[in-house]
Amino acid sequence: MHNVTMLGAGLIGMFYTLTLHSNRSPDKVKVLYSRSEDRARESAEAWGVERWTTDMDAAINDPETDIVVIGLPNSLHKEAVLKAVAAGKAVLCTKPLATNAADAKEMLDAVEEAGVFHGYLEDLIYTPKVLKTIDAVQKGVVGKVLWTRSRETHGGPHSAWFWDPEMAGGGAIIDMGCHCIELSRAMVGKDIRPVEVMCWADTQVHPIEVEDHAIGLIKYESGAIGQFEVSWNFAGGMDLRDEVSGTEGTIWVNHWLRTGFEIFTRVGQEGYVAEKAEGETGWLFPVGDELAELGYVPMFNEMLNALDTGIEPRETFYDGYVVNAIMDAVYRSIDSKRWEPVEIEDWRGVEGAELSTAFTDYDAEHLLVKEELMPDGRTKLILKEKSTGKIIERLT
Ligand SMILES: NC(=O)c1ccc[n+]([C@@H]2O[C@H](COP(=O)([O-])OP(=O)(O)OC[C@H]3O[C@@H](n4cnc5c(N)ncnc54)[C@H](O)[C@@H]3O)[C@@H](O)[C@H]2O)c1
Repeated sequence: MHNVTMLGAGLIGMFYTLTLHSNRSPDKVKVLYSRSEDRARESAEAWGVERWTTDMDAAINDPETDIVVIGLPNSLHKEAVLKAVAAGKAVLCTKPLATNAADAKEMLDAVEEAGVFHGYLEDLIYTPKVLKTIDAVQKGVVGKVLWTRSRETHGGPHSAWFWDPEMAGGGAIIDMGCHCIELSRAMVGKDIRPVEVMCWADTQVHPIEVEDHAIGLIKYESGAIGQFEVSWNFAGGMDLRDEVSGTEGTIWVNHWLRTGFEIFTRVGQEGYVAEKAEGETGWLFPVGDELAELGYVPMFNEMLNALDTGIEPRETFYDGYVVNAIMDAVYRSIDSKRWEPVEIEDWRGVEGAELSTAFTDYDAEHLLVKEELMPDGRTKLILKEKSTGKIIERLT
C-alpha cells in the first residue's frame, strides 16, 4: 500500500487522483497540493483526499507519503522532481518530462544518482489498444516497421499557462507532440535510435507566441519514419489516432472520436461529454470510461507494481529525456527549415540498427517490385532485372 503526495489540482491532478482511488485500491492520495487554498480544499473534499496544503515543500516532505506524483505546469516539473529526490521519495512525473532536454537530463541524472524509483506518466502508451499494438508489432505482425503516424489535435488547451512559452516551453508540439513521439518510438522499437527530424510549424489561428499547428517527421536508424501531426486548431473535439505499418501489415488505432460509442441528440444531457468535446447536441462521441480509455488505470497499475517488485516500469525518466531530445531537434528544424540531428547524450538502445528497408529477391535474376491479382483473374508481376536495372512486367 502506498500513500501519495499529489502536486497539482488541475485536470491531470484530478484524473490521476480519481484513478488512484478507483477499483478499491488500497493506494491513496494522502496529501493534495495546489497554489490556491480554495481549489486545494474543494478538490481534496471532492476526490476523497484526507489532507491538503498550499505549501509544496510540506507536501513533498510529508512523513506519511512515499510517492510524489507531479501534475504541475511543465516549467515546474524540474523543481518538483529535485525536491522529491531530496526527500528520497519515488517520483512519477506527467508529460512532458521537462521543457527541454538539458533539464530532462538533469532530472534523469538526479533520480538515477539518488537511486529513487522514477516513472514517466505517458498514459497513451498504456491504453489497452496501444499495449496490444506494441505486442503485435514485437511479434512481427506488421513485418519490419516502415512508418508510424500519430495524430493529436483539438481546439486548444484549457489553462492560460499552456499558451505561455515560459511556463509551457513551447506550443502544440511540447504539449501534444510529446505523446505522438513516444508512441512512435514505442511502435518502431524504443531501442532503435531516432537520428534526425524535420518539422513544419506555424501559428495559424491563435494570437500566441508559440506554434498552434505542426507536422513533423522523425527518421530512425532502421530507415523507419515516424510522422506526427499536432494542432490546437482542430474543429470537432479531440482527435487521437495512431498507425503503424510495415512490410507485412498495418495497424490503425482510434482512441477518442470513434471508439464504437456514438450518440445523436437534439436536446443534450448534462453538459460535459468527453475531454475537449465541442458541444452536447448532434452526433456525439462519448467515451465509456475516460480513466481507462486514456490509459491512466493500466499506467498506475503497472507503475506501482514495478515499484513493489523492484523493476523498472515500461516508461521511465530516460524515455521522457529522449522525447525531450527529439522535441529540441524539432524546434531547431522549425527555425532552420532543415533536417536536424537528434542529440542524445546517453544512448542506451542498439547501435547500428538493422535496416527495415531491404529489397526482396524474386529469383536469381530479378528483384520483386510488385505482385497484384487483376480483375480478370490474372496475376501481374512487376520485376526489376538485376543485370540491366530494367523494370519489366509478367502475367501469370
Ligand atoms: N494525458 C496527459 O498525460 C496529460 C493531460 C493533461 C495535462 N497533462 C500535464 O499535466 C500537467 C498539468 O496540466 P493540467 O492540465 O492539470 O493543468 P491545469 O491548468 O488544469 O492544472 C495545473 C495545476 O497546477 C497548478 N499551478 C498552475 N500554475 C502554478 C504555479 N505557477 N505554481 C504552482 N502551481 C501552479 C494549478 O493551480 C493547478 O493545480 C502539465 O505538465 C500537462 O502537460 C498531462
